[in-house]
Amino acid sequence: MTAGVGFTGEVVEYYAKYRRGYPPEVADRIAAAFSLTPDDIAVDLGCGTGQLTTVLAERVGTMIGMDPEPDMLSAAARAATGITWVLGSDRDLPTLGRALRPLGVLTVATAIHWMDRDTLFRAARPLLRPGGGIAVVTNGLPLWLQAAEWSRELGSFLGEWTGRPAATCQTDDAGRRVTRDALEGAGYEVIERTVDYTAPLSVDAVIGGVLSAMHPLPEPERRRLTSELERRLRPYGPMTEEVSVKLQLATRSPE
Ligand SMILES: C[S@@+](CC[C@H](N)C(=O)[O-])C[C@H]1O[C@@H](n2cnc3c(N)ncnc32)[C@H](O)[C@@H]1O
Repeated sequence: MTAGVGFTGEVVEYYAKYRRGYPPEVADRIAAAFSLTPDDIAVDLGCGTGQLTTVLAERVGTMIGMDPEPDMLSAAARAATGITWVLGSDRDLPTLGRALRPLGVLTVATAIHWMDRDTLFRAARPLLRPGGGIAVVTNGLPLWLQAAEWSRELGSFLGEWTGRPAATCQTDDAGRRVTRDALEGAGYEVIERTVDYTAPLSVDAVIGGVLSAMHPLPEPERRRLTSELERRLRPYGPMTEEVSVKLQLATRSPE
């Protein structure tokens, strides 16, 4: 089993509370692409606190959420029933998959950038039933990279605060291209779909979202960051977010 990458402690609470889930339409698209039925088994790899796992669970018979961070899995398990939560990373998928196969779908939501895509996509092929596949999903752009004034303010402030350029977390076209090439190279046929919606966004949600994307901070530093973010964001009044969920739906092509 592989150790996680820092989603621990308070970061998990912020993640569970403030990160957006996925609208039902995202699960509908995945279910339609792979003709999922109640006979199917799905694995959501890098499930975190279960954002996609919980909506997809209604479309399959057996839903498994898998993640290398015990704290993320515990929070997911507290919030949902009827799902099996497994501690493990992309490297552990073949072992789990062989015990379960065939899978209807393997999903990876906002997590592919942590994984070895080429190895994962090749290893997943023999685990999938005919017509099954992989759904790689991203949940819109990070809060600090959106086309809105509040987001530009946030991005420039975080740049000063961290001393680093804004991270895309591979939610952009370049990130999707890397994933698509790896899927096609591993023998999948890929179609891309988008689910767009507009949602209200509170200052607390922006602050929680930022804290969910950082390593845990010492209390005084967290308080300073929080009050500075409040000061900068309050003037924007009620904010909205244009969320563009991107799906790469990859069907196992015939042998
Ligand atoms: C940004 S969160 C995404 C959580 C959720 N899927 C979502 O859509 O919001 C990324 C998750 O990937 C997990 N992760 C990191 N490295 C991983 C790996 N090598 N294999 C599987 N999961 C991994 C992290 O522990 C974390 O829970």
